[in-house]
Amino acid sequence: MKLLVCGGAGFIGSHFARLRAREYDDEVVVLDKLTYAGREENLRDLADAPGFRFVHGAIEDADAVADAVAGCEAIVNFAAETHVDRSISGPEVFLTTQMNGTWTLLEAARERELRYVQVSTDEVYGSIDEGSFTETSPLDPSSPYSATKAGADLLVSSYTHTYGLPTAICRGSNNYGPFQYPEKLIPLMVLNALHGDPLPVYGDGMNVRNWLYVEDFGRAIGTVLERGATGEAYNVGGPGECPNIEVVRRILELTGRDESLIEYVTDRPGHDRRYSLASDKVRTLGWEPRMRFEDGLQRTVDWYRENSWWWEPIRSGEYRAYYERHYGRALRD
Ligand code: NAD
Ligand code: TYD
Repeated sequence: MKLLVCGGAGFIGSHFARLRAREYDDEVVVLDKLTYAGREENLRDLADAPGFRFVHGAIEDADAVADAVAGCEAIVNFAAETHVDRSISGPEVFLTTQMNGTWTLLEAARERELRYVQVSTDEVYGSIDEGSFTETSPLDPSSPYSATKAGADLLVSSYTHTYGLPTAICRGSNNYGPFQYPEKLIPLMVLNALHGDPLPVYGDGMNVRNWLYVEDFGRAIGTVLERGATGEAYNVGGPGECPNIEVVRRILELTGRDESLIEYVTDRPGHDRRYSLASDKVRTLGWEPRMRFEDGLQRTVDWYRENSWWWEPIRSGEYRAYYERHYGRALRD
């Protein structure tokens, strides 16, 4: 299949592009704006894959989309602004990408009658104290990030309802693994621990997330692309439900550091307490997670330890200024 992978230079999209090119012999075209989170280095091993093409452009730019989508049979959209903290300090770009961008892609798919898969998140359902969300749970997002992701999901559904476009939505829980930008909990804590920087834990550290290894999510998205029913959403939760402080303690153990590095900091405004997804529906399509959280976390810590070529440029660039602004302290060199 020839696939347009939007946002394929980011964390999850680059794993998905690699999986499809290497294991499924798909021809992959990546369209990516290369924001701070998008890096061509994430795709460097795909340069020689048959049919692989990289297009530098934004999903809200109809000309760039028309160029990239030529000859493709399906669009999988990962492109998004993805960090909750950044959505709180600067929501505007979240609206442009999530709303205008998704709409531009849907129009391109409608014009060419293409299959369309939207990559979404458990955060559209909001927080849940007990039990798990199913696909029929109401959308109740809390942050500008999750609200714009929910808005995009609704727009996608409307294109099936109104125009009969063959869409599906795949809602994942918190992903982790190699190539994740170190503003997110796990890579941030791993790199800080490796450098001896404090580990900034929000609030009481008892917020719970449901951890999903990135390759497991990539396989689920491929399953939905191939076998998901038109107009349906599929939840994809990971096997590791864990309070943040527990994740941080495990990272300290894996990096050989002690708990004196933990620093409790001011909580995120509107911080969702717990996310949890029921994934029975995607399991009926034949998907199940392969990676246990303990193994995936060990593999992730090892990858960051061994791949300083990847994170050194990040820690010396825009990220350093972002970190100082957000946490009110500088990173060590
Ligand atoms: P990421 O921030 O690592 O990557 C996002 C990519 O999108 C980057 O390459 C960026 O350059 C690109 N991009 C941003 N705006 C764009 C635009 N306007 N046009 C073209 N490209 C643009 O994000 P990620 O963690 O890989 O997340 C990918 C998708 O998966 C997102 O839609 C996110 O909402 C969803 N998701 C993420 C998680 C998670 O835990 N990270 C969990 C569930 C769902
Ligand atoms: P994050 O990786 O930003 O993902 P999300 O908010 O989309 O779930 O955060 C995961 C959890 O970790 C969340 O409860 C917030 C918390 N957190 C911290 O405690 N400290 C930090 O520095 C960051 C970035 C997150």
